[in-house]
Formats: sequence, C-alpha cells, structure tokens
Amino acid sequence: MPAVKKSNLRAIRSSFLHFLNDPSKVDDSAQAYQYIEDGLMVIENGKIQSLQVFNEQAASLYSHVEDKRGQLIMPGFIDTHIHYPQTEMIASYGEQLLEWLETYTFPTEKQFLDKDYAQKISQFFINELLKNGTTSALVYGTVHPESVDALFEQAQKVDMRLIAGKVMMDRNAPDDLLDTAQSSYHDSKMLIEKWHNNGRLQYAITPRFAPTSTPEQLTLAGKLKSEYPDVYVQTHLSENKDEIEWVKSLYPERAGYFDVYEHYGLTGSKSIFGHSIHLTEEEWASFTRTESVISFCPTSNLFLGSGLFDLNKAEKNNIRVGVGTDVGAGTSFSQLSSLNEAYKIMQLQGKKLSPFKGFYLATLGGAESLSLEDKIGNFEAGKEADFVVLNWAATELQTLRYKETASLEDKLFALMMLGDDRNIHSTYVAGKLVYTAKA
Ligand code: GUN
Ligand code: ZN
Repeated sequence: MPAVKKSNLRAIRSSFLHFLNDPSKVDDSAQAYQYIEDGLMVIENGKIQSLQVFNEQAASLYSHVEDKRGQLIMPGFIDTHIHYPQTEMIASYGEQLLEWLETYTFPTEKQFLDKDYAQKISQFFINELLKNGTTSALVYGTVHPESVDALFEQAQKVDMRLIAGKVMMDRNAPDDLLDTAQSSYHDSKMLIEKWHNNGRLQYAITPRFAPTSTPEQLTLAGKLKSEYPDVYVQTHLSENKDEIEWVKSLYPERAGYFDVYEHYGLTGSKSIFGHSIHLTEEEWASFTRTESVISFCPTSNLFLGSGLFDLNKAEKNNIRVGVGTDVGAGTSFSQLSSLNEAYKIMQLQGKKLSPFKGFYLATLGGAESLSLEDKIGNFEAGKEADFVVLNWAATELQTLRYKETASLEDKLFALMMLGDDRNIHSTYVAGKLVYTAKA
C-alpha cells in the first residue's frame, strides 16, 4: 500500500499515558488508565484518529513518523480556576484573602481598563499556560469587558479550548473597579453572544464572589444563566473563614454561602466553585444534589493560608473536582506543582493522593469537571488532539532519582513531586505544535 501523505495527518511514536476512569472509582487503579510504553498515535484534522501499540506495519502507512521515544505524552493539562489579570502580581507577600484582594489584586486589575495592556498580558498568559503544558483553562478576566475580548482574541490565535468571563462586581471594591447590576448583565450578554461557542471558546458568567455583588447583580447573573443554560458559571466559595462570616452578614436571610448562589440560580452541572474548603454537611449535600463542581486550588490555598480541601469527602459525595492553579494567589502555572502541593494537603489530613489520581485530576478529571469529557481529557478516538510531551528527567536531581525507579507509579510520583515547566518538552493544541522548549 502506498504511504499516506496527507499533510493534515500526524503520526507520533512515544510512550503514552491517559485515563479512561477516575482511579478512585475502580477496584484497581490499573483499570483507570492506559499506559503504552511504545505506542503510535495518529492525529487527523486536529483529532485523535487512533492510539495503539507501535508496530512496523501500522507505521509504514505514514510517510513520516515523529519519533519521541524516551518521552511521555499525556493529554494537555486542564486548569479549572485561574485569573489571567493576576499574572504579574503572583507571589505578593504577607496577606490572607481579604487583605490580599485590597492590597494587591484590586490595584493590579485596574490596569485592564486599557485594552493594549490587556492584550500584552493576555499574550504572556497564554504563552505561560502552553509552556506549562496547560491546553485548556477556565479563566477570570477583570470587570472590564475588553479584558475578556483581549484574552479570547489571543486564545483564538492558537485555537485553544478556553472558557472565560468578565468579572461582575458592583460593591465592596474600589469605585473604578465597579460595574452595576445592569451594566454587568448587559456586558456579559454581549460577550456571550460574541464568544460562546465561537470556535473552541466558551463563556462563563463570573460574579467574583458573593461579597462583591449586590442581590440585584446576583439576580441578573441568574437571569443570564436561565437565558443561556449552556453557558458556565464560575465564582469563589468558602475559601477563607473571614470571608464566610462576611457573606453571612451580607446575606443574613440565606442558610449559608452555597445557598446564596443556589438562591440566585447560579448552581448546577456547569457551575464551578473555586476552593470550597470550609463546607458544612448541608453544603456538601447541596453540591451533590445540584451536581455543582469544585475547583481544588492547592498552591493558592497554602499560599493564602486558606485551609485544607477535603478531596476524599468530595469523592465520597460523588462531586466532580478539577485542579486550579488560581494564579495570582496560586504560586505556579504548573499543574505538576499543583499536584505536588495537593499531595501535601492530603498528607496534612492523614490522607493520600496517588500519582494516578493526581494525573487523572489534571487531565480527564478536569475535562469531566468542565463537562468537556466528550471533547478533551484523553486519547479516545475522535477527541481533540491537545497533548503535552514530557521529559521525565529535566534536572540532574530527577535523573538521579529515576535511577532508583522501579514502577510506572513511582516514576509518575517523582514527576508529580519534582516536576515543573522544565519537564515540558512541547505542547500541542488541536494537533498543532504551539510550544517547544528551547534546546
Ligand atoms: N475571592 C474573590 N476574588 C478572589 C481572587 O481573585 N482570588 C482568590 N483566590 N479568591 C478570591
Ligand atoms: Zn480565584
């Protein structure tokens, strides 16, 4: 048979790891993943056509097979909570949530009134995601609609699957960062019409958190959700104890923090709540009942001293969870670093986070938490070909550590604990190379 020479075909030989299930939902974690030591992945028109054990006959169909033996290819990482305007204020010293917002976040976010500035940071941000192997993210803009235009325009250039929204915030922030209930409804609606399902882009209605919205604003956010049920909702919930007390004083008529969002029609299967650390038993049950989703933000929760998220409790309650970096409260764009800190958060609670569960959360788990598992998250045929090529050993220390390595599980654990952007060799979006590390 003649070799297939279509330019929209790509064939790659490497080691591959992807997940088909949540490792905590199967008896033996080996049932949750597929690892192919020497595999051949074929991509056609930006989608996975096949992944199989390498054999010469299958490879001979392709005029060129890219040889990435010795590396590990995984689905691109999915970041389910990140603030792009906070990129430049990452690692700001000394405060917990509410003071941190006042001292660092709000002054930084004011700059995004200027679209040129928003463009500049958007470009840096998208590059930084790709450099860290993150191919999809759920992203907060600022209150300025132009900030979201700038981000989507940049994401569109690389055809990335990205979800984002304009922050809605009409009280308890500096005057020049406030919208109004009406203007936030109107601006969000315009952005939905322009961007939702525009190529691979989607929109998230984004009330920052209950303390910075009036009841009128949350009412209109809920109206928007009822008008566009397919659109996402993202916000923050129960991150910090002072924050929770503040919400109680602002919404005394509600049963609790989660109930504020539920009352205004903002919960549900496409609603992603950042943090959700200090939940009551009723709130855990409400998550399950409403099929709402949690974004676990390990580096941020430790950095702001917010608390220890109980991942096992979410598992027991059948709540979908994704991992979020939450930059700029998070201290790294790397999902490998997030998994490192997630492991320690579990240790501090006397629990474990296996590397299989960790890498599941960063890939298929993230996709499921965004209801995108039919499109991204693993290498099943027909999925969009977003993937990352990892170097196992990017440092001398990693090389030394791997000398002692016996099993795949141990290798993955060392990668999760020692890895960062140095381990990202290259990143592909919809089958196209979008980042490659300098030699
Ligand atoms: N709660 C409300 N706004 C924010 C924010 O920007 N970052 C974090 N971590 N929590 C928030
Ligand atoms: Zn956040």
